[in-house]
Amino acid sequence: MASSIKTTKSIFLLSSLLILFTISYAHNITEILSSDPNLSQFSSYLSQTKLDDEINSRQTITVLALDNAAMSSLTSNNSLSVIKNLLSLHVLLDYYDPKKLHSIQNGTVLTTTLYQTTGSATSQEGSVNITDLKGGTVGFGSGVPGSKLESTYTKSVKQIPYNISVLEISDPIIAPSLMNSSSSDANITAVLEKAGCKTFASLISSSGVLKMYQNQMEKGITIFAPTDEAFKAKGVPDLSKLNNAEIVSLLQFHALTSYAPIGTLKSKKGSLTTLASGAGKYDLTTKTAGDSVTLHTGVDSSRVAGTLLDSTPVIIYSVDNVLLPVELFGVAPSPAPIESPASSPSPAPTKSPASSPSPASTESPASAPTEESPEGSPSPSESPESAADDTGKNGGDQRTVPALFVAGFVGVISLVL
Ligand SMILES: *[C@@H]1O[C@H](CO)[C@@H](O)[C@H](O)[C@H]1NC(C)=O
Ligand SMILES: *[C@@H]1O[C@H](CO)[C@@H](O)[C@H](O)[C@H]1NC(C)=O
Ligand SMILES: *[C@@H]1O[C@H](CO)[C@@H](O)[C@H](O)[C@H]1NC(C)=O
Ligand SMILES: *[C@@H]1O[C@H](CO)[C@@H](O)[C@H](O)[C@H]1NC(C)=O
Ligand SMILES: *[C@@H]1O[C@H](CO)[C@@H](O)[C@H](O)[C@H]1NC(C)=O
Ligand SMILES: *[C@@H]1O[C@H](CO)[C@@H](O)[C@H](O)[C@H]1NC(C)=O
Ligand SMILES: *[C@@H]1O[C@H](CO)[C@@H](O)[C@H](O)[C@H]1NC(C)=O
Ligand SMILES: *[C@@H]1O[C@H](CO)[C@@H](O)[C@H](O)[C@H]1NC(C)=O
Repeated sequence: MASSIKTTKSIFLLSSLLILFTISYAHNITEILSSDPNLSQFSSYLSQTKLDDEINSRQTITVLALDNAAMSSLTSNNSLSVIKNLLSLHVLLDYYDPKKLHSIQNGTVLTTTLYQTTGSATSQEGSVNITDLKGGTVGFGSGVPGSKLESTYTKSVKQIPYNISVLEISDPIIAPSLMNSSSSDANITAVLEKAGCKTFASLISSSGVLKMYQNQMEKGITIFAPTDEAFKAKGVPDLSKLNNAEIVSLLQFHALTSYAPIGTLKSKKGSLTTLASGAGKYDLTTKTAGDSVTLHTGVDSSRVAGTLLDSTPVIIYSVDNVLLPVELFGVAPSPAPIESPASSPSPAPTKSPASSPSPASTESPASAPTEESPEGSPSPSESPESAADDTGKNGGDQRTVPALFVAGFVGVISLVL
């Protein structure tokens, strides 16, 4: 039975890897735009806002490109976060080549854009009006009623039917409401508290890691905030057993040193650099299945559950589980032979094996970092059986799955190589 699970996992992984490879290599907007130096600013801003990853991961789309002069009017007065919103209005979720532009039924149509998928748009804000004007001109404008058609079709840049069409237009398409910036000096703790990540918010404040996050905000940061439930889950090690330096490392491990919206997380291969990273340690890896991204630490894993804030270049996600770095919580149990030798023995907290719940700390979740310890939560660094993955009554069964998963993955990798 174990082997059939393993086979199933391998097949599943193999197919998801294949899907991943096919999708991510379909087209490359940066390469397409590089054919025209007049589109260099447009291309550069797609990269800075990571819209390039989103565009590369989609099919049946049309990109409305702006030349450098048109871009300068859009970029000179706006924050990167506003620029991202405006540019995502220039990615149509449908395929329009020049011929289709000139044969729109009834001469006018509203088409959905990438901005619509952010969830912050009304259906009209997130759509673009394409109208076939007299004399062969095609006009573009915001889908908000009453908007003017301020932009016109200039020329075709590239078509790869029916995956991507890139057309140049004369002027930016502006939906006035998108100009309102969600200021980039966002209050991280306020966002976290509002979204049910109070424990995490209080940990980063009390440990001083909040300052480190803030120092990174200008260059770009991605924060993975475990929910309050995540800290209370069974199998979460008793964080009060960690010393200050270890708490800091754990919290730094929950942030990447760059802006990575979901399209970027999906396209990442290899390991992600966290604020705690150094010399190949404290890195994260990702796996993608459809629209869902899972983070892997080597000890445990967590789904990226939701986006709490996306204000380029700052993004905050909620995650279902506390991310446990190998460097602090030891390696996964024996059947997985892949751990790097670097992450060897001891740094984990060597404390009394039976870390019984401290009766003093009752129901006060705010008293971080002395978070209430889950009953009898095993101290992570002892015997293999009590390793961190122990998620419930069926701990035994559940623990073998990730190990086989890893083993299967190794198998697949060696097949692929
Ligand atoms: C369009 O995308 C599909 C799926 O990614 C890919 O298989 C196909 O080769 C692409 N078509 C062209 C012309 O590149
Ligand atoms: C796309 O093309 C650019 C320039 O040609 C290259 O630097 C970049 O790595 C490519 N991106 C992907 C995802 O292949
Ligand atoms: C770039 O723009 C200039 C001025 O608008 C134009 O003369 C030139 O032909 C353009 N270059 C390309 C490659 O389209
Ligand atoms: C930038 O903003 C100023 C004042 O709000 C305005 O006068 C100027 O025209 C704007 N520049 C561009 C290029 O939009
Ligand atoms: C085109 O116009 C006709 C008559 O006004 C209408 O019945 C039809 O639904 C329109 N088609 C589209 C695609 O809007
Ligand atoms: C597009 O805009 C024009 C001009 O504002 C308007 O007449 C037309 O009805 C709009 N088209 C749609 C489908 O809303
Ligand atoms: C944008 O901000 C201005 C001023 O702050 C406000 O008056 C306006 O209602 C806002 N528009 C939208 C659509 O939020
Ligand atoms: C951020 O929000 C918290 C409450 O969540 C508040 O205590 C703090 O003063 C705020 N910081 C700033 C700089 O506004």
